[in-house]
Order: sequence, then C-alpha cells, then structure tokens
Amino acid sequence: MKIDSIHAWEVLDSRGNPTVAVRVDLANGISGQATVPSGASTGTHEAMELRDGDVTRYAGKGVHRAVANVNRVLASELQGWDVSDQTAIDGRMIELDGTLNKSRLGANAILAVSCATARAAANSLALPLFVHLAGIGGKKRVPAMPVPMVNIISGGLHAGHNFEVQDFLVIPKHSASFSDSMEAIVRVHQATRSLLKERGYVMTGVADEGGWGPLLETNETALAILDEAIHRSGAQMNIAIDAAASHFYRDGVYHLTSETRLLSSAEMIELLASWAKRYPVVSIEDGLAEDDWDGWRVLTERLGKHLQLVGDDLFATDLKRLERGVQENAGNAVLVKMNQIGTLSETFAVVDHAKKSGFQAVISARSGETEDDFLADLAVGTGAGQIKVGSITRSERLAKYNRLLEIEDRCLLAISD
Ligand code: PGA
Ligand code: ZN
Repeated sequence: MKIDSIHAWEVLDSRGNPTVAVRVDLANGISGQATVPSGASTGTHEAMELRDGDVTRYAGKGVHRAVANVNRVLASELQGWDVSDQTAIDGRMIELDGTLNKSRLGANAILAVSCATARAAANSLALPLFVHLAGIGGKKRVPAMPVPMVNIISGGLHAGHNFEVQDFLVIPKHSASFSDSMEAIVRVHQATRSLLKERGYVMTGVADEGGWGPLLETNETALAILDEAIHRSGAQMNIAIDAAASHFYRDGVYHLTSETRLLSSAEMIELLASWAKRYPVVSIEDGLAEDDWDGWRVLTERLGKHLQLVGDDLFATDLKRLERGVQENAGNAVLVKMNQIGTLSETFAVVDHAKKSGFQAVISARSGETEDDFLADLAVGTGAGQIKVGSITRSERLAKYNRLLEIEDRCLLAISD
C-alpha cells in the first residue's frame, strides 16, 4: 500500500473562503481524498493555517502557498511511503515543518494530507473509515456512536455579534439511538423558530453553523427561549452552552457589550452558575477565556462535579495544554478539533489522553466546514462519546449527521444479520 502521488488544490468552505483539498493516490490504483475546515473564533494557541496574504485574491485568504507546499514538498517526500503507517507519515510531516505551530508548511496543508492518507488506507483495506481510524497508532479502540451536541441558537462571531455567547445547544437526556435523537433535535430547532417568530424577534436566516441567530435583549433570553422550545417540542433534551469567552475577554474583563455589562472572572463564574441552577444546563464550553487558568480552576472547583466543563480555546487540541488542565484540575472535558493541532496522530493522542485521565472528549467541527464527512468516522473511531458539528441545517453540517445515520444503520443491519 505505497503512496504513488499526492495532489492538492484550492476549494471553498461554507463561508466561501478558500481551503485545501488533497487526494492521495496509491500504487494499487486506490485513492483517498479530504478537505480541511476553518474556524472563525480561533484561539491563540492553535496551529497556523497558511494563507497567501495576497489581497487581490479572496481578500488575502487564498491558500495557494499551502497547496504548493503539498504539491512541491510533501508529495515528493512521502512518495513510496506505506499509507497504513499514519504515525510515521504524520511524524515526517511534523519534522519537515519544523515549527511549533506548523506555520512553515501550514496546518491546513499538513492536515489535508494526514486525513487523505487515512482515507486512502481505509479504502485500500476495504474497511469503513471508522474501523481503520480505531486502529491508528497500533491501538485497539472500541468504536462507538457519539451523542450529538447540536447548536440551536447562535451568537457572537458566528451571528454578527447579536449577543456574546456563541452557542446554545441541546444534548439528548437519555441514551437513545442516534436517529431518534436527531428526530427530537429537529423538533426543538423548529419549535425555537416558531417561538422566536411569535415573540417578534427579527429572523434573518441561519447563522454560520445553521442555528438561529436572532437579535435578543440578553444572553439569558436565548437560554429561556431554548428551554421553552424544548418543553413545547416534547423532546427529552438538556442544554449545553459554548460561551467562547476568549472572544469577549479583554484586559482581564469579560465584556457583555450587548448587555452593557463588564464582568470579572469571579462574576462570570457566578453568571454561569446561576444559569446552570435555573436551566437544565449540563455542559459549558469555554465559559472562561483561553489563558484564564486561575479562573478555570475556580470554575471547575465550583461546578465541575455536576457539569461538563469543556476546554476549546483553553486546550486547543494540544496534548501539553490538556496535560496541564488535567494536572491543575482546570476543566473536565476537551473539545477536539483536528485543525487546531494539524495531524490525525496528534488528535488521537489528545483523545486517548483525555480518556485515560477521566476527561470527556467532544469531537468538533469548525464554523467554516466543507461537505467532507471525515469527522463522523473520527467520532465513531475514537469512541470519544460526543460530537458537535453545528445545527441541523446547511449541508456541510448534514454531511456529518447523515454519515452517522449511515454508520448506525449499517451497524444495526450487521447486528440483525
Ligand atoms: P470556530 O467555532 O470553528 O469558529 O472556532 C467553533 C467552536 O468554538 O466550538
Ligand atoms: Zn468553542
């Protein structure tokens, strides 16, 4: 299963921004393809997406340099390598890049090759991608369907700064099949739309991740509406929040500009605690900013026994930052975004470490996505337990949900055979 050639080109993501696509062709005629996503609320500690900076194309966001790095550097270096040895291939790319944040070759270039490599290997072995992924690095992970954490109301950078908290999401209360969960979640999404319309809020289509992005009086109004929509729909759902607090934290203060309020770290924790007390909130992501480690320790001490506290910008899918969180009791779950770190092998190291340390792991998409459904197989193959890919509209989101529905259907068929 040797690599014959690797080819990259520029495509567009769900916001119309350029991103990298790669095809890996094997000597046996089989190939694998992947495209990479791109965030908007990106953390400071993420690996670097290489963009051209040429303002005459896509306002500087073109990815010709990243594409050239695949076609001119990685393609010749990796020709002849065994595609099934993901660890070696990822390791070689990290070595060739030689920087701490993959800024030389670009995390977008490296990740596209990493994912296309895994697809080519799975195709060549005639295995479903999630089965191949479960064995990466010589491990024997147990594949499992994830529980969906689904965006219903959007704010912050994904919805024109209507209010500050980025996501109000739902999680099924009880373990149900994936398909039954999706049916109930669609009901909540529709009930939320009806409520927002009845209350006279301006509806201007959907936000970047397919959730409703209304103009509301306060952040809490979104929670109250979601809670009511859950009741009205009859769905058995709890609530999750992604505050994405790094993006309204400046000079040591949390700026709730839409409410003309400034909060200290302690006051922000009190606000989150009061929400968790009055609404069925079970998970809070980035409730505090990415370097507010002191605040995170207090938050975890205060709410960590009863709530999932997920670090997104805090950990940036970086093993070292996750190790620090585990040691310092900052958070109890990690959001996993492949392009925050830039290779599949490093992504697996983070999920494996989380599991070993008693942390939860949530496999996550970015706000800028493509129709690539790789993430669905990643969630099943890692056995991470949870997946967060936005709302239930926009096909770049549905690609992942529909692949999960296919995997569940296939597994049920296999059991009933
Ligand atoms: P991003 O948002 O892709 O814009 O970073 C997703 C998230 O914060 O979870
Ligand atoms: Zn987040």
